[in-house]
Amino acid sequence: MTQIPPSQLIDRFGRKVDYLRISVTDRCDFRCVYCMAEEMTFLPRAQILTLEEIYLIAKAFTDLGVNKIRVTGGEPLVRKGLLNLLDEIGEIPTLKELVLTTNGSHLPQMAERLKQANVKRINISLDTLNPTKFKEITRTGDLHQVLSGIEAAKNQNFERIKINAVILKNRNHHEVCDLVQFAVDNSIDISFIEEMPLGIVNQHNRAEAYYSSDSIKADLDKQFSLTASVEKTGGPSNYFQVTDTKTRVGFISPHSSNFCSTCNRVRLTAEGRLLLCLGNEHSVDLKEIIRTHPNDNDYLKQAIIQAMQIKPEKHEFDLKEQPIILRYMNATGG
Ligand code: GTP
Ligand code: 5AD
Ligand code: SF4
Repeated sequence: MTQIPPSQLIDRFGRKVDYLRISVTDRCDFRCVYCMAEEMTFLPRAQILTLEEIYLIAKAFTDLGVNKIRVTGGEPLVRKGLLNLLDEIGEIPTLKELVLTTNGSHLPQMAERLKQANVKRINISLDTLNPTKFKEITRTGDLHQVLSGIEAAKNQNFERIKINAVILKNRNHHEVCDLVQFAVDNSIDISFIEEMPLGIVNQHNRAEAYYSSDSIKADLDKQFSLTASVEKTGGPSNYFQVTDTKTRVGFISPHSSNFCSTCNRVRLTAEGRLLLCLGNEHSVDLKEIIRTHPNDNDYLKQAIIQAMQIKPEKHEFDLKEQPIILRYMNATGG
C-alpha cells in the first residue's frame, strides 16, 4: 500500500488540513434560489484554471498530505474534459478518496464513467420531490432528470451516495420526512443543510427562511427512530442512523452548531484562488503563482504551506444583515 505523506498543512489553531475541495467551474445548468441570483455573469474562459493547472495544484496538495479531494462546481459535470482530469487525479497513489458533489442532471449519461474514474462517493443536491417545487427552487432544473441521475448512480454501486437538501422555511420544510423516506427507500444517505448567506439572493429573506437542524430533527423524530452515530466522513455533517435501515441522516448546521473547530478543509476556486474558509475572504492566488513560476512545484508547495497561516478561526454568519460575503456559492461549490 502507498504510504500517505504526513500532513504538512497545519494552521495557527493546530488544525490539520487533509481535505481539498476543488471547484472546476462556476457555471451551472441550474439557478437554485439559495445559491445564485436569477441573472448571473460567469467567469470568462481565460480566467479559470486549465485542467492541467488544476491537476498540478491537486498533486501538490496530495504531496503535502491531503488525502481527500472533492470536486464541485457550479456544476462540475458541465466542465469539458472533466473525466480526463478525474482519471488523472484518481490515479494519484496517496489519495484515499476522490469524491464529487453534483446537481445530478448529467448523471444519467456520466455515472458509469465517473465510477471508472475511481470516484468513490457522490453527493447529489435534491431539495424536494415535488416537480413544480423543484422547478421553483432550481429555476431551470427538471426533477425527473435528477431522479434518473440518482438511479444511474445507484446502478454503479458507488461506496456511498448522499442527498444534500437545503431546507427553507415555508418552501420545503414540510418535506423533510418525505426526503428521508426517499433516502431509506433507495438505501442512500441524506444531509440537511442550513442555508448560508453567501451572495445576495432576491427570492426570499434568508432570516425568515431559516429552519434550524433542531427543528428538522424534531420533525423527523415523529416519524423515524434516529440514533446518534459517531461515524464521520471528514465533512461537517453530524450523522444519525435510521433504525433498521441503511440510511444515515446528517445535519450540516453552520448557524446552530458551529463546526469550525474541527475544520480540516480548504477550497480551490475555479479561478485559482485558494480560499481558506467558506465564510471568509482570506485567500491566496495560486493561479498567479503557477503562471508566474511555471514548473516550480516547490514554490507552489511553499505558498500552500504558508497559506495555512491565514486560515481564519471560524465563520460568522448573520442572517439578519446583508451578506458580508458577496461571492455566491457557485464560485466555491459549498
Ligand atoms: P462528505 O464528504 O460526504 O462528508 O461531504 P461534505 O458534507 O463535506 O460535502 P458536501 O459537498 O456534501 O457539502 C455539503 C455542504 O456542507 C456544502 O455545500 C456546504 O454547504 C457545507 N459545508 C461543507 N464544508 C463547509 C465548511 O467548511 N464551512 C461551512 N460553513 N459549510 C460547509
Ligand atoms: N447555503 C447552503 N448550502 C448551499 N448550497 C448552495 N448554496 C447554498 C447556500 N447558500 C449547497 C447545494 C449543494 C452544495 C454544493 O451546496 O445545495 O448541495
Ligand atoms: Fe447549481 Fe448547485 Fe448552485 Fe444549484 S446549488 S445553482 S445546482 S451550483
